[in-house]
Amino acid sequence: MDKLSQITTGKAKSLFSTAHPDQLIMEFRDDTSAFDGKKMEALDNKGNVNNQFNAFVMEFLATKGIETHFIELLSSNESLVKKLDMFPIECVVRNRATGSLCKRLGIEDGLILDPPLFEFFLKDDALGDPLINDHHIVSFGWASQEEADTMRELTLQANDILVNFFSEANLILVDYKLEFGMFQGKMLLADEFTPDGCRLWDKDTLAKMDKDRFRQDLGNVIETYSEVAERLGMQIKLD
Ligand code: ATP
Ligand code: TYD
Repeated sequence: MDKLSQITTGKAKSLFSTAHPDQLIMEFRDDTSAFDGKKMEALDNKGNVNNQFNAFVMEFLATKGIETHFIELLSSNESLVKKLDMFPIECVVRNRATGSLCKRLGIEDGLILDPPLFEFFLKDDALGDPLINDHHIVSFGWASQEEADTMRELTLQANDILVNFFSEANLILVDYKLEFGMFQGKMLLADEFTPDGCRLWDKDTLAKMDKDRFRQDLGNVIETYSEVAERLGMQIKLD
């Protein structure tokens, strides 16, 4: 499948149309952003690692009954995906308090959240991805109540699966963000699941194994992503 024209380019990925009207090529670039795009850097091999990491997690979730947009790997940094009508919403689950939650509510960093906390954010960089609730979603027509309920259920269902998945690699899944879209009347998990959109802490040392290494200038960002991939049993191909 060849790339035809570029249809969007975000902060870390680009999407291209293909000869198939319902399918897109998702290219994972090396570009890395934080703080709503205020900090940007290209990190060697990030596109390769994240593309293959995402494929592995999406395929794993599909085996557990979470349907996704992922079709197949095309190259080290490109995947074929279904073209979805995306909701402008980010679904976040937190198993431990950290990041923006601690700042917003004055919560102690690392506090275990049981049951896990679910939050919706509006996908809007200019507004700094603000926290929203079901009422905003329905009133402003970003999704129906039923769709919002399904996004929450699927995100929490994925949490049960992923907490165990990472735990077996001696990692704590602290928090993560998912995005969803519609394909032929069905809601599918879209975008990506990589260390760019989640927080992973080593179970023994609580070392940060995710994009906080980039946000906080901790170094060895891609080496750490690769270590996570290895612990999960992935064999990542670099160019
Ligand atoms: P953020 O980093 O906040 O997610 P971004 O838009 O800069 O924002 P990228 O990952 O660079 O993020 O861009 C990918 C874009 O593609 C996102 O806007 C995402 O919602 C969209 N997208 C992901 N999967 C699909 C899909 N299957 N069909 C259509 N659009 C998709
Ligand atoms: P959050 O703590 O709100 O992020 P930050 O502290 O960086 O402001 O985010 C919770 C998790 O969701 C974290 O793993 C990052 C991820 N996330 C994204 O990747 N993109 C987003 O736009 C949002 C809102 C969250």
